[in-house]
Amino acid sequence: MSSIQNSFVTNYISMNDIHIKDILRIEKESYNYPWSEKIFNDCVKNNYLCRILELDNELIGYLISSIIQDECHIMNLCIKSNFRGLGYGTLILNELHSELRKLKCKIVFLECRPSNDHALKLYNAQGYNEIGIRKNYYPAPDGYEDAIMLAKNVDW
Ligand SMILES: CC(C)(COP(=O)(O)OP(=O)(O)OC[C@H]1O[C@@H](n2cnc3c(N)ncnc32)[C@H](O)[C@@H]1OP(=O)(O)O)[C@@H](O)C(=O)NCCC(=O)NCCS
Repeated sequence: MSSIQNSFVTNYISMNDIHIKDILRIEKESYNYPWSEKIFNDCVKNNYLCRILELDNELIGYLISSIIQDECHIMNLCIKSNFRGLGYGTLILNELHSELRKLKCKIVFLECRPSNDHALKLYNAQGYNEIGIRKNYYPAPDGYEDAIMLAKNVDW
C-alpha cells in the first residue's frame, strides 16, 4: 500500500541542467543499462517534457517524455531506490497525466521490460493496458529482451 507522508513537501517541477548530476546518480543505481549524461542533456535542450520530483528539496525522481501532437511517449520514469513503494511513482505519473490533460493529449505510450514487475504493477494500477510487444527492444545480459508496449487514454 502506498503512503506518502503528508508532512513532507513534494515539488513536481521542470528538469534543468543543474539537476542532471543527481539524476545520473539515481539512473546508475537503478538500471543495468543507464542513460548517459549526453542523453539527459539532449532531452532538456531539445524541449522534451522533462520533470523532476523533489521531496523537501531532495531530488527523488524524474520523468522524461516526448509529446508529438496529441500523443505522449514516456521514455524514462525513475524513483530513487530508498523512496520506492511509497507512492511517489504514482504521484509523478498523476502529475504528468494532469499536465497532459491541459495540453489536450489523448494518449500516453510507454515500453516496459516484462521482467519489471514493480513498474508493470504501477502502470496497470494507473490504467495502462498492454497493446503489443516490441521484439528485442532492450539490451540484456544474454542478448536482448522484448518490451511490453502499454498505452493509456487520457480522460479530459
Ligand atoms: C517503477 C517505479 C518507478 C515505481 O515507483 P514507486 O514509487 O516505487 O511506485 P509506487 O510506490 O507509487 O507504487 C505504485 C504501485 O507499484 C507497485 N509497487 C511499487 N513498489 C513495489 C514493491 N516494492 N513491491 C511490489 N509492488 C510494488 C504496487 O502495485 C504499487 O501500488 P500499491 O502501493 O497500491 O500496492 C520504481 O520502482 C523505479 O523507479 N524503478 C526503477 C526504474 C524503473 O524500472 N522504471 C520504470 C521503467 S519502465
